[in-house]
Order: sequence, then structure tokens, then C-alpha cells
Amino acid sequence: MSALAAATGSVNLGQGFPDVDGPAEVIERAAQAMRDGANQYPPGIGIPALREAIARHQQRHYGIALDPATQVVVTTGATEGIAAAMLGLVEPGDEVIVLEPYYDSYAAMIQMAGGVRVGVPLRAPAFRLDADELRAAVTPRTRVILLNTPNNPTGAVLTRAELAAVAEVAIERDLVVVTDEVYEHLTYGVEHVPISTLPGMAERTVTLSSIGKSYSLTGWKVGWATGPSHLVGAVYAAKQWLTYASGAPLQPAAAFALDELPDWPRALAADLRRRRDLLCAGLADLGLAPTVPDGSYFVLTDVSHLGWDDGDTFARALPHRAGVVAIPVQGFYGSDVGRHLVRWTFTKLDGVLTEALTRLASVDLRA
Ligand SMILES: Cc1ncc(COP(=O)(O)O)c(C=O)c1O
Repeated sequence: MSALAAATGSVNLGQGFPDVDGPAEVIERAAQAMRDGANQYPPGIGIPALREAIARHQQRHYGIALDPATQVVVTTGATEGIAAAMLGLVEPGDEVIVLEPYYDSYAAMIQMAGGVRVGVPLRAPAFRLDADELRAAVTPRTRVILLNTPNNPTGAVLTRAELAAVAEVAIERDLVVVTDEVYEHLTYGVEHVPISTLPGMAERTVTLSSIGKSYSLTGWKVGWATGPSHLVGAVYAAKQWLTYASGAPLQPAAAFALDELPDWPRALAADLRRRRDLLCAGLADLGLAPTVPDGSYFVLTDVSHLGWDDGDTFARALPHRAGVVAIPVQGFYGSDVGRHLVRWTFTKLDGVLTEALTRLASVDLRA
């Protein structure tokens, strides 16, 4: 859709990347690290300074104690963390339960590992987890529950009660939980709870995150997997055959960001919350009443009441009709449950958001 945005001169509210880069001093650290010679292969598991900074981050924000030598591995973005977790933990034929809608790489990575994806749909408009549906999805072949909170694309943040329901099933059926928490700091008035902090979960949870969303450095692709050493070791074993090691000069800069600018992501979240409100209010004025998201970069709208058969048809027509790009949500579900939904990002400058809203207001959005 970004190519379509460029070809049609559209305002791109499709792909989620910020218009403004992260902290200048973090970027300068990376440049300095290059000048200082951090240009050859770093340790595959990640440089000690970054693994220690990640362990301190987990302690500072959530009270999670980790041994940086054995319970932290640096990955090439959370994307590699997802791939390595699936390849390292899923055997061919194992079932992986995924809450739908899910970030699109999950389906591909489960398939690459030879796993079988079993979806548990979360339905518009609230996208809450039905614990009975989760329980019913577990079979003797289930090995992993894969979570994403705050969620892309819904913006929903799993509540403590929902996480407790997941934990109960995981413990009862002896399952591993892999949790993608890349938007951990981007919540708007609700608490982000890492499932690994729930009783009995630290020993069965791999937590994934990255520098990209928290520090507006999405192009850096520096991420991490944390958890018990036997699970993190499996992730690391797979990572060795994916990238072997991750960007040398970016690692000290990421460590600097985590250690020295721990409050930067919260300030970003406050700003994003304002932009979320701007976009949501504008969409509501256009008759596209959104579910106001509690986290992430994204808001979803239902386009069926404008007469569209599905979000895909709407999103393909929109650049030509209004000069705006949004993303259909069908591809984030394994079923038809989300076919009427379209995703918009608000991680853009105010002027970009208002330009998109002005363009949308100037045309007839009905099918
Ligand atoms: C839920 C989710 N997980 C992972 C990623 C990728 O993270 P990274 O850029 O660190 O690879 C994204 C990026 O959009 C995402 O939305």
C-alpha cells in the first residue's frame, strides 16, 4: 500500500512509521560507535552492554529480574525474535494458538517452522478475549500461545484479567507463551502488563520487544527476546542461523537509549495519545466511528455501513477517490471476521493527519 500511496500522491496512513525520528543523542551514539570502530560482527547473542541495559529495562519498568548472560538475546528487530521463537520452539505439526487479528509475520513464521496456526478471533468493536474460546482451541498438539499486546492492528491492550485467563490455560496445559510487546510503552491511560509477571508465567514465557516503536527508530531493527534460559537459548539457537548477529553500531546506541532516556517513550505516548484523539475525532465526524484504541499506532474503522463489501475494496478505492491510503484488515485475520475493517495509523505529524482528514471530508466515502 505504501507503493500505491507513492504512485497516487496519497497521504499514507497505511504503514506504521513515525514522521519524526527518535532522540538525536541516540542517533549520534550510533554514528559515534561507527567512528569508534563498532563495524565488525558483534557477539551473536548481543553485546554485553545492550543485554545488561535490556535486563535493567525489564527490572525498572516491571520488576522482572533477568540474568543478562543467559536470559537475554538481541535480535534483528522483533521480527527476527518472532521468527527465531517459532523456529526454535515449534516442531513440525505443533499447533500455535494466535489471537486474531495478528501481526502479519506470525502466520508466515509459524508456517516456516512447520507449525499449524490455530486462530482465536477477537471481534470488533471491543476486541476482547473470550477465555472459553481460547480454552476450546487447545488440543494435545498445542505447544505455544502467541500474544501481541498492545496489539497491531486493533490497538487493544490485554487486561490483567485476560492475561490471567491465558496464564491459567498455559499452566494447566503446560504451554509456552510467546508475547510480542513492541508497543509496551505506547499505551494511552491503561496499564501494559507483561504476562511474564503473572504467577507461574516467568518460567514459560518468551517476551519480545524492540527499540523501534518505543524510540521512534523503526528502521533500526534492534530487538530482544527475554525469558528463562532454556527458552531464550532455543531462540538464540535459531537466531544463529537467521542473521547470526545484529547491527554492531546500533547496539551501544540502543543501550544508551534504554539506560539514559527511560522516560522518552512515555513522552512519546503522551504525544501519540493527542494524535490518536485528533484522528479518531476526525474519522468519527466522517461517519467512520472508530474503536478508540488503548495502545499502539493504529485505529480500526468499520466501513460496511458505508456500503462497502469489505475493507479491501474500500482501501483499494480510497487512494484514487480521496488521495489517502489505509490498510484493509482482512490479511490480519485467518478468517472472514475482520473483512469489514480498515486500519489507519496516527503516528504521523498533525499536519499530515489533518490533510488526510480534509481530503476524506471532501469526497463521498459511500460505496
Ligand atoms: C506487533 C508487531 N510486532 C513486531 C513488529 C516489528 O518490529 P521490529 O521493527 O522491531 O522488527 C511490528 C512492526 O510493525 C509490530 O507491529
